[in-house]
Amino acid sequence: MWEYTDKVMDHFLNPRNVGEVENPDGVGEVGSLACGDALKLTFKLDKKGRITDVKLKTFGCASAIASSSVLTELIKGKTLEEAMKVTNRDIADYLGGLPEQKMHCSVMGQEALEAAIANYRGHAAAPHDHEHGARVVCTCFGVTDQEIERVVRENDLTTVEQVTNYCKAGGGCGGCHGEIEKIIERVQGEKVKEQRLPPPRKGGKLTTIQKIQLIQQTINEQVRPALRAHGGNIELIDVEGNKVLIAFRGMCAQCKISEFTMREVVEAKLREFVAPDLYVEEDTDGVAGSEGHEHKNNV
Ligand code: FES
Repeated sequence: MWEYTDKVMDHFLNPRNVGEVENPDGVGEVGSLACGDALKLTFKLDKKGRITDVKLKTFGCASAIASSSVLTELIKGKTLEEAMKVTNRDIADYLGGLPEQKMHCSVMGQEALEAAIANYRGHAAAPHDHEHGARVVCTCFGVTDQEIERVVRENDLTTVEQVTNYCKAGGGCGGCHGEIEKIIERVQGEKVKEQRLPPPRKGGKLTTIQKIQLIQQTINEQVRPALRAHGGNIELIDVEGNKVLIAFRGMCAQCKISEFTMREVVEAKLREFVAPDLYVEEDTDGVAGSEGHEHKNNV
């Protein structure tokens, strides 16, 4: 049973732009029936290079059908360059959120579009297939380093489990987990450098956004490496005033001394690097991410 928003249900029950465009300019296919999800996207351009018609044939679950439907609505009327800027996050946001374990459905539409554009431009294979130096990291699901890097970067992912939810990599034998960890560390490290904040001025006050960014940065740099060294991980769930809500992952989730880790490592570092009046609590209801206040439907 999955909880779906009203928008997901609407696009699932009444999918837009279903089928195939006649005499298409571009055709892209991703997934396979054996894996449970398969998409075929076809589009036609007008004289100005805008997508005048786009259709998708989708075999998959409610999330896959709804994500495909939204993608066609989001890219109609756009140039190919503009369409390529639509991310899986845009699709999920438009739908009012998707269950974390279903986020890969929002990624598949994006991949089908890329494959169709590659086809239009005369490339035989989809760009996510081993082109431009991409290397398959997860052989169980044929997922490349570039695909993993993209979902990590665009969705700010910090754990292997999340990567599996977003692109299936790591969901089989587990042999690729070490490589996925390395990609996460590299991308998150680069993001921290890009977003590094100037230290607050003496006596100056952090804005709410600065505070949240500094908390995330401190967790990334000061806390996560220590937990990873022992097979664990941590996720920032929310910040409410001085309360920082976190969730432990991996080994830390079952650790008997997680309370100690929370106080003596996480809270201590946040007080040292962000603000002395912060306190940390563990998220116990397991609800990560925001899905707005949409009514949820169980399917
Ligand atoms: S190689 Fe990635 S799960 Fe098996």
